[in-house]
Amino acid sequence: MTPSFRAGSAADALCIGMLGTHVFLDTYAPAGMRAALAREVVEHFAPAKIESLLEDESTEFILAENDGHLVGFVQVTHGARHALVSHGATSEVNRLYVHERFTGQGIGKALLRRAEKSAAARGADALWLTAWVGNARAIGFYPKQGYVDVGATDYVFENDHYENRVYLKVLG
Ligand SMILES: CC(C)(COP(=O)(O)OP(=O)(O)OC[C@H]1O[C@@H](n2cnc3c(N)ncnc32)[C@H](O)[C@@H]1OP(=O)(O)O)[C@@H](O)C(=O)NCCC(=O)NCCS
Repeated sequence: MTPSFRAGSAADALCIGMLGTHVFLDTYAPAGMRAALAREVVEHFAPAKIESLLEDESTEFILAENDGHLVGFVQVTHGARHALVSHGATSEVNRLYVHERFTGQGIGKALLRRAEKSAAARGADALWLTAWVGNARAIGFYPKQGYVDVGATDYVFENDHYENRVYLKVLG
């Protein structure tokens, strides 16, 4: 398989929202569905919500496609800061999602490389992201891609707290 990569635009909101829902539930609802998770999906992956992100000039989506189908994407917020990251100009990888059937084939790495290049081209010194401690695959993946664990942070949705690690890569 040879995926192709391109920038996302407003017309992609529906597919990004649905792939995002699929990967999110696969990753964060292994024990099944509960109301808080369902509400989080409805809130964050609604096509209108994704469309508003696509129209926000500080947000960038890079898409991976195979044979005309969306199989992965990375979402970056340029200029986003984090208290644990003291570098001058920084960007955040908000989401790096690959359809489960296409994982392990280099797509995640290729999307991340493109996010790094784009952030550097916009003047970022470093790229950072957070990963849930329960997401063993992500926790294994990022250090292999040159990301350094710089501390812990909590992701809070409704009354649930999820411990995340903050990862940082200084861009060359
Ligand atoms: C995490 C994720 C983005 C990785 O993408 P992927 O396409 O499967 O990864 P790749 O095939 O590009 O792997 C790239 C490298 O990471 C390594 N890797 C992949 N999974 C790994 C793991 N669990 N532990 C250690 N290394 C791992 C691969 O061996 C490969 O190494 P190489 O460059 O030396 O060959 C993908 O699995 C995914 O979308 N998961 C669900 C959503 C998610 O958890 N996103 C991250 C949220 S923070």
